[in-house]
Formats: sequence, structure tokens, C-alpha cells
Amino acid sequence: MSYTVSQLLTQDITFQPIEIKGWVRTFRANRFIALNDGSTIHNIQCVVDFENTDETILKRITTGAAVHIKGELVESQGKGQKVEIQVNSIEILGDSDPEEYPIQPKKHTFEFLRENAHLRTRTSTFSAVMRLRSSLSFAIHKYFNDNGFYYMHTPIITGSDAEGAGEMFRVSALDAKNPPLDDDGNVNYKDDFFGKETNLTVSGQLEAETYAMSLGKVYTFGPTFRAENSNTSRHLAEFWMIEPEVAFMDLAGNMDLAEDFMKSVLSYVLDYNKEDLEFLEKRLLDEEKTKPQAERSEMSLIEKIKFVVDNNFKRVSYTEAIEILKNCKPNKKKKFNYIIEEWGADLQSEHERFLVEKHFKCPVILFDYPANIKAFYMRLNEDGKTVRAMDILFPGIGEMVGGSQREERLDVLKEKMKALNIEEEELWWYLDLRKYGTAVHSGFGLGFERLVMFATGMGNIRDVIPYPRTPQNAEF
Ligand code: 4AD
Ligand code: MG
Repeated sequence: MSYTVSQLLTQDITFQPIEIKGWVRTFRANRFIALNDGSTIHNIQCVVDFENTDETILKRITTGAAVHIKGELVESQGKGQKVEIQVNSIEILGDSDPEEYPIQPKKHTFEFLRENAHLRTRTSTFSAVMRLRSSLSFAIHKYFNDNGFYYMHTPIITGSDAEGAGEMFRVSALDAKNPPLDDDGNVNYKDDFFGKETNLTVSGQLEAETYAMSLGKVYTFGPTFRAENSNTSRHLAEFWMIEPEVAFMDLAGNMDLAEDFMKSVLSYVLDYNKEDLEFLEKRLLDEEKTKPQAERSEMSLIEKIKFVVDNNFKRVSYTEAIEILKNCKPNKKKKFNYIIEEWGADLQSEHERFLVEKHFKCPVILFDYPANIKAFYMRLNEDGKTVRAMDILFPGIGEMVGGSQREERLDVLKEKMKALNIEEEELWWYLDLRKYGTAVHSGFGLGFERLVMFATGMGNIRDVIPYPRTPQNAEF
């Protein structure tokens, strides 16, 4: 019978004839194959009877080759593993070129592996990261399904660019060399595929709101696109976002939902991805040994995840946060790039990281931001100057979640749009929600890759998505 490595290592099936297919990680002493098939972080040791194996076959057992092995699972004679496979026959399914195969059994830099992203999941680190990524997305769907949410597929091509969450990528079928022009000499999008200008979406929120206002509790989980030129370790031009939206829920409910949701999905991977987490924890420890003491984390990877699962997020208003920042050492000593002088300042990631990493030392939910640094759709507070916005900040990551209670009052929303020059015609359907059966509602957006970064301890967002899209880079 055919098995995966994971099955062979966890089921009690010794002394039975078994078959397995996988890729050779290493072949040692013409005898010991470390075989991996992606089903677990562990390799299985396969012991070749080299005296009775054809010389030409032995030569073809090289790192990277795909093989089909038949044999018996037996208790291991050697150290390091409980069981191993006594090989009776081995078939080479696909040869590898040991000289040219990029993934050699040695340490590679992440930069090198990014250039070989099509093969990097043949390493322990990247296979562990991508198994965790898969597991987290399953946990996310499970959480919402268990809690009565409907999964909504919001459009990827959008005709409205009013959200203002970021620069957009244009979608067009016009001849780029020779586009139709209008009387003023501008490109005439009336002649384009959709008869109007269209872009890749920056968020599914506005459409999700329409469904929340009929189905009650919905969420989207899909790709979003931002054409900002931010070449940082936390930004992608194409990233995946989870956006729940709930009718009759206010900002306090939104905070409760976000916190419960994040704790639930993180505790799922603690339960189901233990071995991958243990491997990544060790990797992170090794990486941190190369850093100066002051930059090393006080907690290990698994401790950090458990800490988030077991402790309340700290809820702090923007106004309180500004007071803390105005009076903190790095601000007074002018160590920040942007000095916080007064209420109203937009918070930069250096400030967010000070709050979570140095001051509170736990995830922080900042809420009630000044209206003029947040999006038009956020619910204006009674003070007339703050909105019911919330950002969730995580140690080591910075902003993980952005959300708000939505402005449900037609007149206030229209006023806001007018002040920002957003055409009513463009968002007529969004305004309709406020005309017909409007109600309090709220939601948030979680950047999936930032969550994967937190759960895996990876320091660069390019290493937690299969094929990163960043400025000047769309290989694969
Ligand atoms: O704060 P943002 O821009 O919020 C929205 O788009 C709202 N419409 C969400 C909502 O209320 N439904 O983005 C949400 C999250 C951020 O907190 C961050 O985690 C992530 O998306 N994010 C990015 N992740 C990777 N690369 C980028 N360029 C990102 N921009 C935002
Ligand atoms: Mg944001």
C-alpha cells in the first residue's frame, strides 16, 4: 500500500510491505536516503541494500531526484529516528542534476531562495511556512463557518476607486500603443472593455457591506492589490485580506470579534502544526543568535503565539496613545524620524512599534482616531472630530488589522464624501444602503501575510507568500 511520510511516522504499521514516493533530500554512504514528500517537516530514512542494487541506479539517487520506493517499515537501528524503510526496490521517477540543482543540502540565504521560489518549498523552512499558511487559511474559514458567517466572493476587478486605501493597478483591454482619445486628448475609457475605467481592487469592504446588510454576517478572503511603491519587509503589491462585515455590530463588538478570531486561528495552528512550529522556532532562535542581545526577542516563537492566545489585547484610544508617545524617551530625545508634537498626527510604524514592543509589550487595539487621517466611511463620533476606527498592532509586525464602525447616516456620509470630492454617482449603490434600512454595522481587514509572518516568525513578507509581487518583481 502507498503511504505518505507523515503516515509512516505516525501510524503503527511496522513490518508491512509499503510503498512511498517522494524527493531525495540527501543520499549518504551509498546507503541512506533522507526522503521527503511534503507531508511533514520530517524526512524518512530509507536504507538501500547497495550490494544488491544496480550501480547505475545508485548513481541516479541524487539530491532532488523523485523516487518510488517499495520496502518494509522497520524499527530503526540507528539514532535519530524510530522507524526507517528497508528498501526492496527503488525506481527513479525523475532524475535531478546534482551539479546544477539549486537546492543543495546546505544553508541557502532567503534572497537566493526567493530567486528560486519555484523550488524553495523543497527546503524544510519553506515547506513548514507554506503548510502553516495553508493551515491558517483553513482555520480562518472554519472560524467563520462555525460562527455563522457566509463566505462572500467580492469582485477583483472594480469600477470604483473611492475607498482610498491605496494606489490602484489599472485593468484595461485597450491598445496601449494607440488608445482611443476623447476631445480633450485623454484616454477614452468609454471605449474600453467595461465602458469605464476599471482597476484591481484594494479591498472588498464596500461590497461586503452590501451583503452584511442582507445576510447579516459575511466575510471575504481574497487577493487585493496596491500599487504603492513601498519596498518594505511588510508590504506586497498583491496580498490576501480577510474582511468580515457584520450588521448591527458596533466598534466594541468589532474589537471583540477581531480578538476572538485571531486567538482562535492562532490556537488552531498551535494544536495542529506543532512540528512545523517547533522547527520554525528553532530556526528563529538560530537566526536571533546572530543578532545583538538587545534585538533578540524575550520569547520563543511558540511562547509568543501562546502569549497572544492567552492574554487580552490592550485597548487604547488614539488620544491616550498620543499622550504616551509625546512623553516617551525616543520622542523627547528626537530618536523618532517623525516627532509627535500634537494631537492629530498620523502614527508611523516607528510609533506603533514603540507602543506594542516597548510600552505595552502585547497586542494593542488603538481606536477613535482623528477623522481626517482615516477613510471617509468611518462612523463620526459625537465629538465631531474622531471616528470609530480601530487598528490592531502586533509586536514585531506593526499594523495587522484595520477596521471601523461604518457611517450609517446618509446625511453625514454625503457630507464627508463631498468634502473629499468623492462623486455620489460613483458610489450610488453604497449610499443606497443608507437609504433603505440602514443600521449600525462594522468590520475589519486583516492582512493575511502579516498573520502568517507572526505565526511563522519569518521576518520578510516575501517569504510567506508563494510568489511575492513587489515593485520591479513579478517573476514566476
Ligand atoms: O488598513 P487597510 O488599508 O484597511 C482596509 O483596506 C479596510 N477596507 C479593511 C476593512 O475595514 N474591511 O488594510 C487592512 C490590512 C492592514 O492592517 C494590513 O494588515 C494589510 O491589510 N495590508 C497589507 N498587507 C500587505 N501588503 C500591503 N501592501 C498591505 N496593505 C495593507
Ligand atoms: Mg490601515
